Amino acid sequence: MMTWFEIDLGAIRNNIRRLRNLAGVPVLAVVKANAYGHGMVEVSRVAEQEGVEWLGVARVEEGAQLRKEGIRTKILVMGYTAPESVPMALKDNLTLTVFHPEAAQGYQNQAAAMNGELRLHVKFDSGMGRLGMFPEEGLDFIRWVSEQPNLTLDGVFTHLACADEPEKKTTNDQLARFDLLLEQLEQGKLRPRWVHAANSAGTLYFPKARYDLVRPGIAIYGQNPSPQAPLPVGFQPAMSFKSRLSSIKTLPPKHGVSYGHRYMTSKAERVGVISAGYADGYRRSDHAFALVRGKRVRGTGIVCMDQLVVSLDDVPEAKIGDEVILFGQQGGEVITVDELAEAWGTITYEVVCAASARPFRLYIDRAEDNRGA
Ligand SMILES: Cc1ncc(COP(=O)(O)O)c(C=O)c1O
Repeated sequence: MMTWFEIDLGAIRNNIRRLRNLAGVPVLAVVKANAYGHGMVEVSRVAEQEGVEWLGVARVEEGAQLRKEGIRTKILVMGYTAPESVPMALKDNLTLTVFHPEAAQGYQNQAAAMNGELRLHVKFDSGMGRLGMFPEEGLDFIRWVSEQPNLTLDGVFTHLACADEPEKKTTNDQLARFDLLLEQLEQGKLRPRWVHAANSAGTLYFPKARYDLVRPGIAIYGQNPSPQAPLPVGFQPAMSFKSRLSSIKTLPPKHGVSYGHRYMTSKAERVGVISAGYADGYRRSDHAFALVRGKRVRGTGIVCMDQLVVSLDDVPEAKIGDEVILFGQQGGEVITVDELAEAWGTITYEVVCAASARPFRLYIDRAEDNRGA
């Protein structure tokens, strides 16, 4: 193998267990976007073995794919689904999210035509400013949904915009606004089985947000939601990005490296080419780092589609074919996803979600007692 993502399913198992113990309520494992690059089907199988109550996807097609692969756990489609896709949702027993009366009417019509029963969670915008109905408009809509012959009101939820930030007010205000709706639903005997709000940071930092179910994504994969909202000790990153040296040579002084010659050697410099580039999910930038023979080396020149170049002056023992780490551990050294996120001006989520389809996914299951938790 030249370039691959090594995914430790044992780390995912460990992280799910920790989340469940910490939250004290059932877990909806967010596996959308190919499980943040980790492999949706493989991660869902582990989550299912761990007994998570729900899986969360963004699109109805993702849910259908999981059913095709034999996943039986309840699946919530958290994004918008067009009414035309209701037959797919019914066939595959997917629970849909709704937040517009027109869509809800469309769902009722489609479900009636199939003589089916469609399970729904209603999404509320308590402050995110994205998908969702305002909580103040919720009571009548919830009543209407619960009266439809072919719709079942199974849940209500909201999403937190700032749970991974140090200021707590925005999240507390969102929860208070959601709570007002929940009180109305209680009074009207309309509170459904599942009330949920917490993403990873909400689960960790806002116990009040846990309600009946938590919806972690990034924490399952062992990555920090943000530098200000780190995971507790004992969570483990599941993904490492690995490749190999495909060429080594010494360039003369004043020799350009890679497209645009954005790097120039100042003296004779030994460089190595690594078989990974932006088509594999490594950011096209001048900020590349790697571990070679347990030593940290820096990129020279811009990252290309299929390769990147590093300086090997400090690693004279490096050989063509050596395994290199783009993120993960080698010997006592580590390159973290946090570090790359910072260097690239993004968040951990984007670094792992960028993992493209091309590299092989190598699944391993490191023993629990190696985790030092
Ligand atoms: C509705 C919803 N819930 C939960 C999550 C999981 O968030 P996180 O990865 O921050 O835990 C997401 C991810 O974006 C989401 O869209």
